[in-house]
Amino acid sequence: MPGTTQELYKAYCDLMQKAADINYASAVLSWDQETYMPPKGAEARGRQLSTLAGQAHEILTSDKFGALLKELSAKSDLSDTEKSNVRLSLEDFEKNKKLTPAFVEQMSLQISECFNAWIEARKKNDFNVFAPSLTKMVALKRQQAELYGYKAHPYDALLDEYEKDATVAMLDPIFTGIKEQIPPILAKINAAQQVDDSFFYNHFPRQQQWDFSLEVLKRMGFDFEAGRQDYSEHPFTTSFAASDVRLTTRVDESNYTSMLWSCIHEGGHGLYEQGLPESQYGFPLGSPTSLGIHESQSRFWENCVGRGLDFWSFFFPKLQSIFPEQLGNVTAEAFFKASNKVEPSLIRTEADEVTYHFHVMIRYEIEKELIQGTLGVKDLPAKWNELYNKYLGVTPPDDKSGVLQDVHWSHGSFGYFPTYTLGSFYAAQFYAKAQSDIPGLLEKIASGEMTELLHWLHEKVHKHGRRYTSEELCERITGHKLDTSFFIRYILDKYKNVYGI
Ligand code: CO
Repeated sequence: MPGTTQELYKAYCDLMQKAADINYASAVLSWDQETYMPPKGAEARGRQLSTLAGQAHEILTSDKFGALLKELSAKSDLSDTEKSNVRLSLEDFEKNKKLTPAFVEQMSLQISECFNAWIEARKKNDFNVFAPSLTKMVALKRQQAELYGYKAHPYDALLDEYEKDATVAMLDPIFTGIKEQIPPILAKINAAQQVDDSFFYNHFPRQQQWDFSLEVLKRMGFDFEAGRQDYSEHPFTTSFAASDVRLTTRVDESNYTSMLWSCIHEGGHGLYEQGLPESQYGFPLGSPTSLGIHESQSRFWENCVGRGLDFWSFFFPKLQSIFPEQLGNVTAEAFFKASNKVEPSLIRTEADEVTYHFHVMIRYEIEKELIQGTLGVKDLPAKWNELYNKYLGVTPPDDKSGVLQDVHWSHGSFGYFPTYTLGSFYAAQFYAKAQSDIPGLLEKIASGEMTELLHWLHEKVHKHGRRYTSEELCERITGHKLDTSFFIRYILDKYKNVYGI
């Protein structure tokens, strides 16, 4: 392919941006599907999404695109930014090419079958309805790991899809740390007096919850000229460009916590998306680093900032004036304590910050074994219940509140769960650094002043896109690789104030 470097890079840009336009247009359709689409629109929407996905895939896996990338990567006169974009695009291209079109089609059919079986199994509260489809799915995922290739463990190949460079060798010590260090903390908490969170379960009218959530998001720095919030059944964040980011949330009028935490959490994801460099639209450097880093941003805001006493010393008086009957007799401190109640439970998405990581660890252990072939799908519910009993001291009364609770496996997402734990741990490590970098950070939060913090996150995390891997980014920001002791210290610091441990 002849041409000057500039001409070649321009040809690369054209293809990347065309694919991005298609992908972001799909994202608009998917967002609409989850928020406003009437039920009868589902069939046509499915077709539209599949057509667009096919078109983007065609561009990004074409021989023309591959040849262009190879030629560009041999050029020495690209800028650093251009070089990073080309290098990462070539990596993505080579990874995409490892899956044959026949495999991709088979996987897409298996995902539909498996998802429907999961819905059906949940309705009947019976894992056996799900098992045959899941068995086929696990076989396909093992095949996928072989197609991708791996050095040490087949599960590494799948982890890499969600968190580049994450491996069993990297994660095993992290989860061992959890197994060793969290139980003694949990034992102290269990021995302390339980906090009262009964005031969360009162009547909180929808509109007032909604209005307060907008106020919180504005204070966090979410730009409503470049985004909006809508309702959906399952809260999520999506983006069509850094200048158009969509948050969704749900409201439960009889449980105030349901909306509050999901709103701050999604707000953190949204701030990351708004902070990605607009000039890099559609390029690797305009995309999030990894799922783990994305989750670090949501958990930074939700847990480190949002569940902090300083945050509530600012917001609680406002919340109290909106709900005088429900919260009139509650103090900011009681609200803070209730927001950090710890209690072993069955459902991951409802778990507190301490026990949460056991939920992830259990899934991690199971996934590793399924992919390695040392655990069969038929033995999954027994294994699940055994591990829940062992680590959390609870036993699911049925499959729905046990092994059938997450959608991930039905979507073929094996290797996704660990990114939640990585997110929490990165968040704690970044939060410690933010406190030492920004003088008086907690006082600033307590006076509702969060601009400096957002600016810090933007400079340290958001603006880099995929320029660095998660590990490199963490080291650049904090001077250390991911280190679980930051999380343990964060937990001890917080729960000293909640349970006096
Ligand atoms: Co999240």
